[in-house]
Amino acid sequence: MNTLDWSNLSFGYIKTDYNVRCHYKNGAWGDIEVSTSESINVHMAATGLHYGQEAFEGMKANMGKDGKIRLFRWEDNARRLINSARGVLMAEVPEELFKEAVLKVVKLNKKFVPPYGSGASLYIRPLLFGDGPMVGVSPAEEYTFMIFVTPVGPYFKGGIKPVDMLISREYDRAAPQGTGTFKVGGNYAASLRAIVDAREKGFANVLFLDAKEKKYIDECGPANFFGIKNNTYITPKSDSILPSITNKSLIKIAESIGLKTERRPVPIEELSEFEEAGACGTAAVISPIGKIVDPDTGKSYVYRTDSEPGPIQMKLYNKLIGIQSGDEPDTFGWVTIVE
Ligand SMILES: Cc1ncc(COP(=O)(O)O)c(C=O)c1O
Repeated sequence: MNTLDWSNLSFGYIKTDYNVRCHYKNGAWGDIEVSTSESINVHMAATGLHYGQEAFEGMKANMGKDGKIRLFRWEDNARRLINSARGVLMAEVPEELFKEAVLKVVKLNKKFVPPYGSGASLYIRPLLFGDGPMVGVSPAEEYTFMIFVTPVGPYFKGGIKPVDMLISREYDRAAPQGTGTFKVGGNYAASLRAIVDAREKGFANVLFLDAKEKKYIDECGPANFFGIKNNTYITPKSDSILPSITNKSLIKIAESIGLKTERRPVPIEELSEFEEAGACGTAAVISPIGKIVDPDTGKSYVYRTDSEPGPIQMKLYNKLIGIQSGDEPDTFGWVTIVE
């Protein structure tokens, strides 16, 4: 294990020692089982495989200067998984079961939590899917809930840097009254064509518009969007975006440092008024946006021409990662120490 080069980890998969699993059958969850296998035995007629009855979560554990492992807002991930389960009619994972499973898998893999100061974290991936045989389109009767962990490097190696985004005019990730607010696999499958298309054109990711009218900003690939102008943090309100826990936290931090905050529909034209723009989510915390290009009009909205993030988002970023690692006081009560 001492062979892991913590400062040079990528945001990829590295095998750890254990994962945890739990099965739902006959209307009840069984006990949490610990496994060393990287494979799962799934029925070939499982609804998770055929009909997208699947949801997941993404969260991180960080090592503090004090040698304590910290989880960030796990309750919000637990509640979001319950909401996703309701969205595609799956058995819900009770908050207590979620907590027990997260704590167990992190403790079992303690040696994979990257050291303080490396910039790396232990990524935690809870997964829930319809299991057991079901041929007609119907909710499953059995479910598997599992969590694996993997150490990941900082999203931006060599420091946080602005990236460019391409507005998606050809593809939507979610329908107006569809499943956009849930963290279900189908949304990610639906987003792939747009993401790969943007990458092939040299952009870091894609900016989705509202699917109904194509007038408002929805979100950025797997992250929420925010813009800053006139000392105000502005983020889209939409029925088809994932409620980001990072975004919710940045709003609180923004308020605490004297910014006004607004969550409301953000029309495309407003992109030209922002002084700073960024994408936020667990993986990168904040990805500052250098420019946004609209392929329909050829218009570019430019926020940074150097390789520096905007000053306000840098302040928000430092505060948030400070709280997550324990360098800043946990004034909002967001952190759980893994004892
Ligand atoms: C579609 C989408 N939007 C936003 C986010 C950011 O959410 P969070 O801040 O909870 O990680 C994610 C990542 O989880 C995502 O997949």
